[in-house]
Amino acid sequence: MKERIPIASDHAGFEMKENISKALTALGFDVQDLGPSSPVSTDYPDYGHPLAEQVSKGEVKRGVLMCGTGLGMSYVANRHPHVRAAVAWTPEIASLARKHNDANVLVLPARFISDEDGVAILKTWLDTPFEGGRHERRVEKIELEEARENT
Ligand code: RB5
Repeated sequence: MKERIPIASDHAGFEMKENISKALTALGFDVQDLGPSSPVSTDYPDYGHPLAEQVSKGEVKRGVLMCGTGLGMSYVANRHPHVRAAVAWTPEIASLARKHNDANVLVLPARFISDEDGVAILKTWLDTPFEGGRHERRVEKIELEEARENT
């Protein structure tokens, strides 16, 4: 069965979302586009929260968000337990976000990277496994309850 990957943006990320959708489909994923459906001005939390909720509840393994800087969407997503949303503007950042931080949400800064860069970053993030080891403990400590128990 195809892995379902939800994607969402605001108006600033809309065009990149269309491109990322095509790339994910071509890679064989079942893309769930959570909107928006046009580039009309919108509020990024309205689209970021529903995606992050799916990842937080374990309904999907991972998702992709886009806004102008990537920052607003990352703030939104990272408020959800078990979500580790990484803004990545190069494939190397995406690789490290997977290897060291087990990032389960990729956030693309649509106004600062090209569509080609976005796809290259996406592919790296999709293909790079978490390294585990010493990073496992650190990632566990991100969740507040675990951090309080273990420090
Ligand atoms: C929209 O103008 C812009 O503020 C938004 O896309 C994002 O960059 C917010 O963090």
